[in-house]
Amino acid sequence: MDTQIIQFQNHADDRGSLIVAEYEKEIPFLVKRIYYIYDVSDDKHRGFHSHKDLLQVYIAIHGSLKVMLDDGKKQETVLLDNPAKGLYIGHNVWREIFDFSKDAVLLVLASEKFSESDYIRKYNDFLESIKKTIPNT
Ligand code: TYD
Repeated sequence: MDTQIIQFQNHADDRGSLIVAEYEKEIPFLVKRIYYIYDVSDDKHRGFHSHKDLLQVYIAIHGSLKVMLDDGKKQETVLLDNPAKGLYIGHNVWREIFDFSKDAVLLVLASEKFSESDYIRKYNDFLESIKKTIPNT
């Protein structure tokens, strides 16, 4: 699966903590857009899509949440519960985000500007798109 956990260095001292996300060190793409999601109640699920070209890094900069990742063959769930932990999500990955703690803030770094046409929002279309891009699946 085209995903990876990113461990950020925490420059912590007696003044507090500072975490850096820098291109080519922790982030493998130039960031053209950021957005953040918060105030999500614990019974709500978000996401339910994949992207054609977009690359992203998710960081729970406060609180915790879970991300279910699916490449059409297998699924795994990642807990993001630390601002020093990032989740890179590459190509051909369906994602669902859930179990937000009350105080959760999900920061998303994105490689492209917003484009609705880059979204695949139906799971069956996602499976079809994988068959086209990855033969023998
Ligand atoms: P949506 O894709 O439903 O969020 P999620 O993937 O977390 O379930 O996005 C919610 C709304 O915000 C939708 O109307 C599209 C809009 N939006 C933008 O205008 N720009 C953006 O960069 C993003 C991520 C969403």
